[in-house]
Amino acid sequence: MTPWPYPSWIAHRGAGKLAPENTLAAFRVGAGHGYHAFECDVKLAADGVPFLLHDSTLDRTTPERGIAGERPWAELSQLDAGSWHSRAYAGEPIPTLDAIAAFCLSNGHALNIEIKPTEGQEAQTGTVVAHAAARLWAGQAVPPLLSSFQAESLAAAQLAEPQLPRALLLESLRASWFDEAQALGCVAVVTDHRLMDAAVIARLHTAGLRALVYTVNDAERAKQLLALGIDGLITDAVDRFAPTPLTTAA
Ligand code: G3P
Ligand code: MG
Repeated sequence: MTPWPYPSWIAHRGAGKLAPENTLAAFRVGAGHGYHAFECDVKLAADGVPFLLHDSTLDRTTPERGIAGERPWAELSQLDAGSWHSRAYAGEPIPTLDAIAAFCLSNGHALNIEIKPTEGQEAQTGTVVAHAAARLWAGQAVPPLLSSFQAESLAAAQLAEPQLPRALLLESLRASWFDEAQALGCVAVVTDHRLMDAAVIARLHTAGLRALVYTVNDAERAKQLLALGIDGLITDAVDRFAPTPLTTAA
């Protein structure tokens, strides 16, 4: 099976729901709960700067409205991405991928970069994010894991920086999922946890791929998945799940 240098417990969007998602503040909260691996969503500003944001639009997490990817980074960098969450985080900025890389590398944290392109920018986002990741993690023992729901983004990342590990994200088990993961040279598949079962894990492990799930916030479900031999769990519940190795977790 492919060697797996990543911690088993991965904090979703930084620290899930305890701090504004996809901000440096969220990463600090996750790290404060003992997490050493993080997932975040990355897309491109209009001038090509990779930055963290889950949604296509700015509506939910900033005071602005409209498609985030249509704004240059100079504008995005000025936005308040914390007040929507709570007063304690008022003024928290949107981070660049560069800023999050600096935080992770300085603290020895692993990163799962979910390539979350603005519609129509699937390939370009995969290319730019892969080149940025290769530059930022040059010479590091543990590279970031690049994941995406968009096969086109993963294909572009594969072409740009084939040495970086990739994972296919799945919200359904479409007929072609396994062949797609293999064609994209993925080292892992990350499914909605409700899709994961013994058969899927066996199929992946037999082919040498790792099996991960998102977003597990229920202790019973985590226990079941651990018993099945899951390789990684992405969670919001950083305050409830101690990020211990899988052998001792649950
Ligand atoms: O990367 C796993 C998970 O983050 C995928 O769902 O919508 O939270 O980005 P979403
Ligand atoms: Mg995500």
